[in-house]
Amino acid sequence: MSSDHVVFFDTTLRDGEQSPGCSMTTQEKLTMAHALEDLGVDIIEAGFAMASEGDFAAIATITQAIRRPRIASLARAKKEDIEMAARALQFADRARIHVFLASSDLHLEYKLKMSRAEALNQCGESVKLARSLCDDVEFSPEDATRSDRDFLVEMVRIAVEAGATTINMPDTVGYVTPEEYGGMFSEVRKRVPAVDEKGIVLSAHCHDDLGLAVANSLAAIEAGARQVECTINGIGERAGNAALEELAAALYVRGDRFGVSTGIKLDQLYPTSEVLGQLITFKPSPNKAVVGANAFAHESGIHQHGMLANPLCYEIMTPQLVGVARTHLVLGKHSGRAALRHRLEQLGFTVSRDELQHIYYRFVALADRKKNIYDQDLVGLLPDNIRERRNEPVSELD
Ligand code: KIV
Ligand code: ZN
Repeated sequence: MSSDHVVFFDTTLRDGEQSPGCSMTTQEKLTMAHALEDLGVDIIEAGFAMASEGDFAAIATITQAIRRPRIASLARAKKEDIEMAARALQFADRARIHVFLASSDLHLEYKLKMSRAEALNQCGESVKLARSLCDDVEFSPEDATRSDRDFLVEMVRIAVEAGATTINMPDTVGYVTPEEYGGMFSEVRKRVPAVDEKGIVLSAHCHDDLGLAVANSLAAIEAGARQVECTINGIGERAGNAALEELAAALYVRGDRFGVSTGIKLDQLYPTSEVLGQLITFKPSPNKAVVGANAFAHESGIHQHGMLANPLCYEIMTPQLVGVARTHLVLGKHSGRAALRHRLEQLGFTVSRDELQHIYYRFVALADRKKNIYDQDLVGLLPDNIRERRNEPVSELD
């Protein structure tokens, strides 16, 4: 794999599923796994084998049905977890055991009641065990961004020596800024030369508590990370994980800046988001980037006029690029005459300048009273003589 390839590690079925309203049955997880395979993700984290019988079953089922992406199971840095993960993954063509252990003093002291020395020892032993069971092992120092930097570096060094093939440094609580997160990757690369010498993949895993998950992941890529962990629609613990669709779109649209390749089929982004929306209890918010209902909708007159003149005025990517059928010029109280004429023409009504002016006044008065203006509302505004001279409507309506 070339060094400009960014691995997309999808954790919708593990970190995403771990959040309220997102739990899925094995069958639903399988449906989602097929959609992720079609989307072109490199790795699917299918669950946390030790967490429940359901998770174990889902991982095992997915390994037997999905062939192209590598399938991963999460495991705490414990013998029983790692062995359980290996069992769940036994039928996978290509498997990964993802071992995690907290590296911050806060987690070690209050959650694990473990000393730093014990944590380092457990890290090394667990990664060695995982490597004896699977040739692809990822290690995550949980809460990496709030860990003492020297200690984090030491833990990464031990994990690499023990055989980890990917080192993921999570911003578990979505705390850092892009500059800080990128800086952490640069520092770890510099202080653990074995990372680059052995071709170990560094990975970003960001949560969105401050709305910075995607920005932080991009900063990590600029600092040399070659794997991003993300979820469809950005679902995940609390405010969610980095949104896969936003990362993929950003890397493509700003290819001039990032210069990396991915295996993501961009036109599958919206269809995949739709599949997830049907499986869990909520859809992305309308103003969600890339896949939200308003991501390619324009209401204000100035924007609609610009869009009709040249879509580049207000869109940095076409809706079709990400699998959305078309731009929507939404008619509302901010719309102008250009969009009204455009819509009327699509509905089959060609109007003169004076007629348009007359209809526009009536339209604005209606839009002031009504949040959504539908086609039948518009037709209702037209005088009889215009309605009678209707042409064939244009089939591709906004
Ligand atoms: O956010 C986190 O730290 C995690 C790890 C288990 C990778 O999800
Ligand atoms: Zn996480």
